Amino acid sequence: MKIGLMGLGTVGSGVVHLIEENGDAIEKKIGQKIEIKKILVKDPEKKRIKEAQGKITIDPYDILDDPEIDVVVEVMGKEHPALEYMKEAILRGKNVVTANKEVIAKHGKELIKLASENNVNLLYEASVGGGIPIIRPLKSCLAANKIYEIKGILNGTTNYILTEMKSRGLSFEGVLKEAQQKGYAELDPTDDVDGFDAARKLAILCTLSFNKYVMPDNIYTKGIRTISKEDIKYADELGFTIKLIAYGRLDENEKLEAWVHPVMISKKNPLNGVNGVYNAILVEGNAVGRLMFYGQGAGMMPTASAVVADVIDVANHIPTQNGYDDAAMKDIVDTVSKYYI
Ligand code: NAP
Ligand code: HSE
Repeated sequence: MKIGLMGLGTVGSGVVHLIEENGDAIEKKIGQKIEIKKILVKDPEKKRIKEAQGKITIDPYDILDDPEIDVVVEVMGKEHPALEYMKEAILRGKNVVTANKEVIAKHGKELIKLASENNVNLLYEASVGGGIPIIRPLKSCLAANKIYEIKGILNGTTNYILTEMKSRGLSFEGVLKEAQQKGYAELDPTDDVDGFDAARKLAILCTLSFNKYVMPDNIYTKGIRTISKEDIKYADELGFTIKLIAYGRLDENEKLEAWVHPVMISKKNPLNGVNGVYNAILVEGNAVGRLMFYGQGAGMMPTASAVVADVIDVANHIPTQNGYDDAAMKDIVDTVSKYYI
């Protein structure tokens, strides 16, 4: 199985390393070799990892028009031109794996329809929760449930910042630089800090959970920019930790409560102990009860783990099941938000 990799930054490099390191074991499991044939980047002058030698291109059509490439792995980020490249790949009959929450949250509806029409997979496990399995469980393992509520910590950068501000008494700006150096932050860290990244992830989870198209714009969003060291210290004295929480609930009147903003979390709440780059997602279903998904929500190798798992699913010929059943979906127009959980 030949891959065209679009992007060789934090996640793309992780994908290359993981296939290099675990390729033989994966081949034994799935009965075929996974090979990265070409890698698209923006800057042809940048120094690249040795495994990428001879594979680099700056022309997307080197990948899109290569009939040997079965899977396009999009890990470039940003809405454009990632969206256009994914569409072109699908129209050429290629499976697409992406970690791009912005594209899936804003354009999942049309992309998934296009993928179904062209009988290819569009898989996006890494778009929410980094290495945590959450998309696949919502699509398949929990499919028998009515999901009432979904809430959690969905952004590694802001959780890292808030954790370090608390434990080391540091200011917001100093810790943001560290999160960027560790490869957790988006290209534009405003997306993390102001809550947009978490809102995009919440939109994806709500759409999958509630069978309604939920757009990030429907979600009340406020980030952590205004949280000071003093806020964190006073919250601690009162027995609380400040966390950026994403919350979605569909009530019996089909009204969606969906918001992302900082919340005071009591010591008894399981989300209180989720620190650093870790994310946690609590899902409540009518049959299964309450579940908690926990793990590293960002970073090179955890995210690569989710991306390569999607590639393996394509190789295993898991039937096309892209997550949204268009016929059953409705658009959400009305939302409410609350300041407590
Ligand atoms: P990154 O480190 O900024 O890497 C982006 C890569 O894409 C770079 O190699 C860049 O090329 C290439 N690229 C960007 N725009 C391009 C264009 N127009 N044409 C060709 N190549 C282009 O980003 P990242 O952190 O790996 O994130 C990639 C995606 O994964 C994003 O959607 C992000 O939201 C998602 N994600 C990231 C994480 C994480 O922990 N970082 C976790 C989950 C999901 P150059 O090398 O030439 O600059
Ligand atoms: N910037 C994102 C985060 C990457 O910090 O959570 C993982 O989606």
